[in-house]
This record gives sequence, C-alpha cells and structure tokens, in this order.
Amino acid sequence: MMFKNIPNFPGDPILGLAEQFKKDPREGKVNLSVGLYHDEEGIVPQLESIRRARDMYFENETKASTYLPMGGYLPYRKEVEKLLFGEDAQSVKEGNIATIQSLGGSGALSIGGMFLKKFYPESKVYVSNPTWGNHISIFEAAGFKVEKYPYYDAATHGVDFNKMLEFIRQLTPKSIVLLHPCCHNPTGADLTEAQWDALIPVLKDHDLIPFLDIAYMGMGNGFEEDTYAIRAMEKSGLYFVVSHSFSKIFSLYGERIGALCVVCEDQEAAVAVESQLCGTVRKVYSNPPSFGAHLVHNVLSSPELKALWIEEVNGMRKRIKDMRQALADELKLQGQQPEEYEFYLKQKGMFSFTGFSKEQAVALREEEAIYIIENGRMCIAGLTSGNVKKVADAFAKIELAGENA
Ligand code: LMR
Repeated sequence: MMFKNIPNFPGDPILGLAEQFKKDPREGKVNLSVGLYHDEEGIVPQLESIRRARDMYFENETKASTYLPMGGYLPYRKEVEKLLFGEDAQSVKEGNIATIQSLGGSGALSIGGMFLKKFYPESKVYVSNPTWGNHISIFEAAGFKVEKYPYYDAATHGVDFNKMLEFIRQLTPKSIVLLHPCCHNPTGADLTEAQWDALIPVLKDHDLIPFLDIAYMGMGNGFEEDTYAIRAMEKSGLYFVVSHSFSKIFSLYGERIGALCVVCEDQEAAVAVESQLCGTVRKVYSNPPSFGAHLVHNVLSSPELKALWIEEVNGMRKRIKDMRQALADELKLQGQQPEEYEFYLKQKGMFSFTGFSKEQAVALREEEAIYIIENGRMCIAGLTSGNVKKVADAFAKIELAGENA
C-alpha cells in the first residue's frame, strides 16, 4: 500500500468556508468570511489604476515572459521599499534592506520563516492571541514552536497592552515576535502610536526579532498612520522583518504579489541576507511570476497612477468605515446595547471580532446564510447597504437566542 491510508487535510477554516459559500444555493447569502474587499454592489472591484497599468503592460511588453531573478523584479522591489519605509528612510537610502518579491503575504511569511529557522534555529515564534490562523501553520511548517502572547481583551474589545508588554518583556533574546502594524487580523484591534512607542524600546532592549506582517496598508487610518510601526522601528535602529501583501490594497488577490523585507545593519549584511532569501526561493519555486509585479510597479512608479491608486484605497477605507457605522446603527435600531455595537466603530480595517462563539457562527451560516469565520471574525468589507440590515437582524436574533439559552 502506498497512498491508501493518507487522511484528508481537515480543511482551512477561512478558505474552506469561501469554497462552501460558493456552493451554497441559497439566495441572499452573505459572505463575511474570507478577507476580500467588496464594493457597494457586492463585487470585488478591479481598480482603475490597475486597469491602466495593465494597458501599459500590454503596450510595452511585446516579448515573451522569461524568468525573473530569484528575488523578483528589481524595479518593483525598489518601489515597495519606498512605499513601506518612506523614500527618505535611512535604511532605504543606504541600501540596508534586503527585499524580495514574494507570492503574496503568505509567501513572504513562509520564506521569512525558513530564513529565520536556518539562522536562529533555537528561537521560538510568538504570535498575538488570537492571530490569523495561517501564521501559526506557516511558522510551524518552517519548523518553529509557536506560542501566543496576550493581546485581545474580549471585555473591552481592544488590546490588553499592559499584559502584552509584560509578556514580551520576559522573552528570551532572539525570540521572534509577530506583530500586525495595522488592521489586526482577526480582531481589528490595533496598537496606538503611543503603544508602539512603548513597545519598540522593549523589543530593542531585549534583543528580540520583530516580524511585522502588513496586508492592509491604507485600510485602517490612512497610509502614513498604517505604516507608523514600520517607520518608527526603522528610525529606532531596530533590525526586523516585514512581510507585505498587495492582494487587498490592489485588489490583486489572484496574482499572488507581495514582498519580504529584512532591515539589516548595513548594506553588506543586506546583500548577504538577500542572497540567502534568494537561495531559499530557488529551492521552493525558483523565481516568482512577473505579471503582478509589473502591474504594481507601473502604478507605484507613475505619479499619476499612484495618486489615482491612493484615492481608490482611500475610497475603500471610507466604505469600510461607512459599513461599520451602518452596522452599529442597525444594531442600535434592533435594541442592542452600546457595548454590543460601539466596538465596531473602534476596530479598524477589514475585520472585526464579533464575540460570537463557534456555535453561533455555525447557526448564522446554517440558519441565516451569513458566513463568518468560526472564531467569530467577520469581514466588514463584505457588508453593503443592501445586506447590512439582514446581517444586523440576524446578529440580534443569534444574540437573543444565546441570552435565552
Ligand atoms: C483572510 O484572512 O481572510 C485572508 O488573508 C485570506 C486568507 O488567505 O486567509
């Protein structure tokens, strides 16, 4: 017998639901599971900036698409560094950052995890409690033991920062600490700038390795605000890792386009680190695909297209905020208490933690055709003016059933 006894993969709690949603025949079903930004019509939009970038690509690229270097398309990587760290960042100007193109954010996390495991094999990885489930899977697959640091406080629907800091203070040097610079996935509860300012010296003094995962730049408070942690860390002289995804903010989910950056001591270190990252890429998939990198580069390198893109992301952020408000308003109309809806207004980005249990999430799906993740995460960016009342009615009903149970 060879493959006969292999069990099924139990399925992914996010992508599995997205598949289930597609097959659901019920009319009026609402997908608030996977992190996809939908517009007011309930469509995942193609951005106008990307449409124009694509036209440019087909006008200019008349030759066959050959292999990119292992680290990806160099002009793209340069634009990504400027976008994340700021054009004037010292590390950018001095060439101290090792940057490769990655297969979305997951690919960046994965290559980053493999790189760290090779050079810090004894380190453990610490993720927020809770975090995006795939963080744990990816770092475990890289061979790490993954543990959680205190983060979300269900009572306040915010961050228990003192507990978090206390915990991080006692980590052994070279521990890897995974952090979300903005739009925390799954809770929507972010650190304030003052809290980042308090955390950074602790990370530095305790010789920890911060790993910042950012996929929602511009969707929380704005581009400057959402990159605060990255830029403050760079200014503080910390050496750290950043994984970045363009899936959501360019609506380019299928192109698998992201980046991995390692901020190093100097240019010499960055060259060595980049060569190691490329060595890892070669072993896994050789080199990345080129189309998405060209599209993003065409936008970021054109002042006109970049301005248009920023406007488009600003529009997404505004719509997400409007939907947060609409949900809170509807829940209020349902007679819910402020503590049951005000937190939706405070949490940031695509996701919110509803506080619903697994059983309640299943009931929402089975009885109401409303899909949220079973840990209670909902994708606010899947709400529209057309479905928000249905969702609020169902939330109130499920809440009431819970109270009466
Ligand atoms: C999500 O969290 O829903 C997205 O990042 C999609 C994914 O790959 O899980």
